[in-house]
Amino acid sequence: MNRNPQLNKHGELQHLLSTEGLPVSILLHILDTAESFAGVTEREVKKIPLLRGKSVFNLFFESSTRTRTTFEIAAKRLSADVINLNIAVSAQSKGETLLDTVNNLSAMHADMFVVRHSQSGAAHMIASHVQSEIHVINAGDGRHAHPTQALLDMFTIRRYKKDFHNLRVAIVGDILHSRVARSQIHALTTLGVPEVRVIAPKTLLPSKVERLGVHIYHDITQGLKEIDVIIMLRLQNERMLGASLPSTEEYFKYYGLTQEKLSLAKQDAIVMHPGPMNRGVEIDSAVADGKQSVILPQVTFGIAVRMAVMSILAGN
Ligand code: CP
Repeated sequence: MNRNPQLNKHGELQHLLSTEGLPVSILLHILDTAESFAGVTEREVKKIPLLRGKSVFNLFFESSTRTRTTFEIAAKRLSADVINLNIAVSAQSKGETLLDTVNNLSAMHADMFVVRHSQSGAAHMIASHVQSEIHVINAGDGRHAHPTQALLDMFTIRRYKKDFHNLRVAIVGDILHSRVARSQIHALTTLGVPEVRVIAPKTLLPSKVERLGVHIYHDITQGLKEIDVIIMLRLQNERMLGASLPSTEEYFKYYGLTQEKLSLAKQDAIVMHPGPMNRGVEIDSAVADGKQSVILPQVTFGIAVRMAVMSILAGN
């Protein structure tokens, strides 16, 4: 039988590589644990000793502001020793392979690797290579998966909407190149969201995306009707092989979220974005900074969610 490579033989989380195939019990355990840590981040003394004596290595082979920083804050709040490998001045620039780098860091008694890489599958490869006592967290690999982003998005949705079972969620924009969208779709469907819509031009949708259980809309004015949660995505130009769009101006006209388009959704709809945002391309500033936006709370919740993931892994 093929076991999910993220789970140990007891069905517990050994690595976090993707939201695909994770049981609802594990997703809820992470969200509930994060709820308990959200209070810690509001205390005067924000440290707890759950990861004291453990070494967390941040290996970011691709740029990041939110994920890298919140993983570092989360690990420090759990009292771990945090090592941020500076990839630009590491021996990778002298031709060392990814697995040789990992072998050397493992020899320094690493307990956890947090990995971001432009190649899909990089975190899986490291997870299948390391000793069983080391845990690997995927912090975004190519266009494949970004599980902690999806989890912090689920945490945000639950905070504002309470229950997943009566929601309509729309993911708008460059679904084709988005690891975030894939991870969100798996998490939303597992958590019981009855209607997930993807809204995008044909050129920015993966073929057969409906097999993931989503409804496809090309017209945003139709797709936003009766929506509770709107998740906007950036055009991920760094992963596009050629021009997928005539121009960013035209994209904004048809798919950019303005107040006018937002008014088509439910009155109490929330607006989310994983960041980085491109104002005036996929979202208007008035919406990004408006009263329905929960974009900055998403970032704050990311600390508690990453604390939850690391503490659960360390306990298994
Ligand atoms: N959402 C996200 O992954 O942002 P960063 O690239 O800044 O980490």
